[in-house]
Amino acid sequence: MTARYQAQDNIAIITIDNPPINSMGLATRQGLEAALATAAVDASVRAIVITGANGVLTGGADIREFGSPVAMQSPTLHDLIRTLEASTKPVISAINGVCMGGGTEISLGCHYRVAAPGVMIGLPEVKIGILPGAGGTQRLPRVAGVELALDMIVSGDAVKSEVLARAGGLNKVIEGDFMPGVLAFAKQVIADGAKLPRVRDIKISLPGAATFFAEARAKVAATSKHFPAPLKCVDAVEAAVQLEIDEGLAREFELFSELVATPESAALRHAFFAERAASKISDVPEATPVRAIKTVAVIGAGTMGGGISMNFLNAGLPVTILETKQEALDRGVATIRKNYENTVKRGKLTQEKCEQRMALLKPTLNFADLKDADLVIEAVFEDINVKEQVFKKLDESMKPGAILASNTSTLDLNRIANFTKRPQDVVGLHFFSPANVMRLLEVVRGAATSTDVLATVMRLAKKIKKVAVVSGVCDGFIGNRMIEQYSRQAMFMLDEGASVEQIDGAIEAFGFAMGPFRMGDLAGNDIGWHIRQRRYVERPELVYSKAGDRLCELGRFGQKTGAGWYDYKPGDRKAHPSPIVTDVLRDYRLAIGTTVRQITDEEICQRLVYALVNEAAHILEEGIAQRASDIDVIYLTGYGFPLWRGGPMHYAESVGLDKVVASMRGFASNPQADPAFWKPASLLEARAISGKGFDAK
Ligand SMILES: NC(=O)c1ccc[n+]([C@@H]2O[C@H](COP(=O)([O-])OP(=O)(O)OC[C@H]3O[C@@H](n4cnc5c(N)ncnc54)[C@H](O)[C@@H]3O)[C@@H](O)[C@H]2O)c1
Repeated sequence: MTARYQAQDNIAIITIDNPPINSMGLATRQGLEAALATAAVDASVRAIVITGANGVLTGGADIREFGSPVAMQSPTLHDLIRTLEASTKPVISAINGVCMGGGTEISLGCHYRVAAPGVMIGLPEVKIGILPGAGGTQRLPRVAGVELALDMIVSGDAVKSEVLARAGGLNKVIEGDFMPGVLAFAKQVIADGAKLPRVRDIKISLPGAATFFAEARAKVAATSKHFPAPLKCVDAVEAAVQLEIDEGLAREFELFSELVATPESAALRHAFFAERAASKISDVPEATPVRAIKTVAVIGAGTMGGGISMNFLNAGLPVTILETKQEALDRGVATIRKNYENTVKRGKLTQEKCEQRMALLKPTLNFADLKDADLVIEAVFEDINVKEQVFKKLDESMKPGAILASNTSTLDLNRIANFTKRPQDVVGLHFFSPANVMRLLEVVRGAATSTDVLATVMRLAKKIKKVAVVSGVCDGFIGNRMIEQYSRQAMFMLDEGASVEQIDGAIEAFGFAMGPFRMGDLAGNDIGWHIRQRRYVERPELVYSKAGDRLCELGRFGQKTGAGWYDYKPGDRKAHPSPIVTDVLRDYRLAIGTTVRQITDEEICQRLVYALVNEAAHILEEGIAQRASDIDVIYLTGYGFPLWRGGPMHYAESVGLDKVVASMRGFASNPQADPAFWKPASLLEARAISGKGFDAK
């Protein structure tokens, strides 16, 4: 039963009940329609209340239905709203909890709207690249005023019930016990003659509308490059001001239909579902018991240790941070304080909160102080011998049942786990730098990691507002293993004649936050250099350009040394083209005897992105990643892949996997190419032939 019906004291109470968030899929719409029909013919009923079970009114439309015939199957949200507006008995929307999208539109179709205090109400459609398509853009401005409505619709951000009530969007915020308050309101409506005010009948008057919308458009255009939806939201709200309601509704539906069909909306919807799917692990059921994490310890107060600690302090969890030397400990703690103080200066944190967070931090040099921690995260030097020493110490000092995590980026987690006598309690928690800012967290699942440890860290990730994605154990895990192939390809293109600036410029125009060389300069080119030194020994069959090594031999490690692929001026992060790099590249090309050629920007983007995609296909077929969409989440949240393209896997599918493979074959036939690099992974090849997506069964 998706909508429960109950009548008492001349009032029908319809409770939408479709756990977890009462989404308005077909079954729920049918349930609501049936309940409204019952209320219509129930002679004792003089007013109708619609409310929600599960602590929410409704999360809105079921977006999985989009593009399928079910979405348009009767009753649609439009049909329901027509029924509500035609009702001869007053209908009251009783917003007991979160009310989003289609739910807000249904409420706007009711004669009255009341809500509990502090409840979030919104029209978040723009966040998935569309606009409210069931009258939200036409009715909200009529009750809440054009300004607030436009803000809510363009940003997609919800507002508290009090804010909406002040603007006129709600008839009342019900203080005290909710349902008795709602019933009292309903009785008053009946006592006042059961009037039937309809939002559609309200006339909007907006003096200076043309200027208002011109300004709104300019503002929205400046912040929504690559995303068509926000500007169309402005168009829709303008239609509410200019047109009669039915014409406005028709215009809204037209704009909605245009947006649903855009690749940007498809990408945003994919990203939305991908993020939800990433939190699920196929062999770890939702009901898996979790361990309580009340206190945390962090080993190493360097770049990562400090940032990692801040996540837990922000979430109100006490952190004990350990270093080997007092000086390093003091420096680490001072950096954490400085970060908080900067946030205070920017007005984003109060001094009081800053002090509260710092008070939760306990610095120590002594492993004995970690004995009560439920979770420890190691972030010491990336050296297996140091890790061995630390994990042996942790095994001795941590209480039984504590989770032992490593933030290693490249080392074998199984080896690390086996330094302890409790490998089942060991897991990788690979944070990204800056760890207090970046949303991505790769959870590295060791061969022995127990399912309750996994369930616990996935739950904890949500608490510290990270997007956790599970990776199996392999060199570089998912994200860095892929980026290595991207960087290799970027350097091959330098060898063939492209410039550093051209490559960065092309992929930045594609939408990456930063090209490979600016990224190298930021992260430190020495990191890649060390990895390559290791590869030359471990994988002598792999071909690498040595152009990057030549730069590193000159000490050009990037921003930290004031020079890398670009030149930098003191105190300035702006990248300036470097004549020295141009010379180094010219000499290197001569030394290896390449014939320089013009490379198009299109080729640059394809080679960089398809290098990612092919490695990702290997990662999938090896079972290192659970699903292709997880890989997209990693690239969208941790590597600056353009959101409106949905991640590398979604993007490749939108290009067509057959076309991707055909391009790769073309690259392999380039006389300078390393054909082994462009051999398509079997999974990619198979899917290119079958025409199925990566995640299709
Ligand atoms: N920097 C990054 O971008 C990044 C990103 C993800 C993961 N990581 C990983 O995080 C770990 C730390 O990297 P980082 O960049 O923070 O290094 P860092 O050099 O900034 O910090 C390491 C800290 O560990 C301390 N330390 C060393 N041995 C110790 C020991 N035995 N006991 C206690 N403290 C000890 C050092 O004094 C130093 O303060 C590495 O495993 C690295 O691979 C780094």
